[in-house]
Amino acid sequence: MSRASLKAPQGFSEDQGYEEATCIFKIRYCNCILIATIIILASYRLCLIVWDPQLNFKQLPLRNASRLTQAPGLLPAENRDKTAAFRFTPHLLDIVASTRPAYLRSQGRTGVSIVLGVPTMQRRKQSYLRSTLYNLIEHMHVAEQNETLIIVYIGETNGTVIKRIVHQIELSFGAHIARGLIDIIAPAPDYYRDSEENVSWHSKQNLDIAYLMTYAHSKGTYYVQLEDDILTKRDFITTMRKFALIKLALANPLEPSWFVLDFCPSSLAGKLFKGAELPYLITYMQLFNKDIAMLTMLLHFIEHTLCHSDSLDCQRDMPKYWPHFDVSLFQHIGTFKQKLRMLEIKKANNSETIKSNRD
Ligand SMILES: *[C@@H]1O[C@H](CO)[C@@H](O)[C@H](O)[C@H]1NC(C)=O
Ligand SMILES: *[C@@H]1O[C@H](CO)[C@@H](O)[C@H](O)[C@H]1NC(C)=O
Ligand SMILES: *[C@@H]1O[C@H](CO)[C@@H](O)[C@H](O)[C@H]1NC(C)=O
Ligand SMILES: *[C@@H]1O[C@H](CO)[C@@H](O)[C@H](O)[C@H]1NC(C)=O
Ligand SMILES: *[C@@H]1O[C@H](CO)[C@@H](O)[C@H](O)[C@H]1NC(C)=O
Repeated sequence: MSRASLKAPQGFSEDQGYEEATCIFKIRYCNCILIATIIILASYRLCLIVWDPQLNFKQLPLRNASRLTQAPGLLPAENRDKTAAFRFTPHLLDIVASTRPAYLRSQGRTGVSIVLGVPTMQRRKQSYLRSTLYNLIEHMHVAEQNETLIIVYIGETNGTVIKRIVHQIELSFGAHIARGLIDIIAPAPDYYRDSEENVSWHSKQNLDIAYLMTYAHSKGTYYVQLEDDILTKRDFITTMRKFALIKLALANPLEPSWFVLDFCPSSLAGKLFKGAELPYLITYMQLFNKDIAMLTMLLHFIEHTLCHSDSLDCQRDMPKYWPHFDVSLFQHIGTFKQKLRMLEIKKANNSETIKSNRD
């Protein structure tokens, strides 16, 4: 029906209809202005944070640049021991202190910006641990190394095996250990309660990560879960912390804030947490470590403890709790090698077809 065919109801003049239209137009106009203002303000806030001439990312330590003490969920280190999580679960969170680690090599560095947790164990075929560490260190510049602590967790209970792995790390990274860039830790043998063969693979992985997080959570502002067979990209530390800063800067107090930032989807590597929030996750993992894959566990944790709504709403909000960075910063060495092999086969195929075409 066109507007012309509509007869104005009695008592309504054409003028009123016109006024109504302008009114709607005005409301739309106002909405546009409001949205534009919000966008401009948000961009301005982002610019202030990211391009502030006084905040030189290369020189300023993250904990300073980000004004993190103001961020939700983050507590200054000196207050951490008084948080509720510690009071409720002292025995769980004290595993590092109560069951003395079987091996600990540390210069006691603490208060860094980013802690990288690398769990490892004896590999039957080939260990990529040294390639991984080399790759991580090579892709950090000196200032980033100053703000970073790498913790290698050896998930073994046999002293001989632990010593062998430590020796391998020492051979290549003795200087880095001495400088305090790398810590090495192995749990007490009784940490895995059942005999080790009987602990399922997922349970062992969860226990390993829980121990590693417990040791690491108070050493830095952020904790990044990694694996022992990964390659990374140049400036990955700066990229991760910029993304974290942008997420903190744009945090809306009325909306759920992020719990984990994802820099490598569908893998355990590249998950960034706030150090101060880790105790909640550690407790959850220790209670429900049986046979659930870590990523599924993370999903359950968010659903059960952070969402206060039904599961549909929670699904919708999941990207807010668990935002993904649009590029994957980490890659498993296995898949990398596979790709390389495919590329070589393709190349060989191509040169063969070219040859056959020439003949
Ligand atoms: C930031 O770091 C500078 C130099 O290290 C220091 O003087 C300043 O007090 C720090 N500011 C905050 C808020 O921590
Ligand atoms: C690293 O930290 C040490 C001491 O904390 C400082 O002397 C050195 O200048 C720092 N290096 C860089 C490149 O920031
Ligand atoms: C520890 O590992 C070594 C070498 O793999 C092996 O000879 C030894 O029997 C193991 N010890 C135990 C208690 O399993
Ligand atoms: C390990 O599991 C098997 C069967 O699941 C059981 O027979 C065995 O007693 C267990 N060993 C230990 C040390 O618990
Ligand atoms: C190589 O070429 C053959 C036929 O020329 C084809 O069947 C095969 O799928 C190719 N392999 C790859 C990896 O492209």
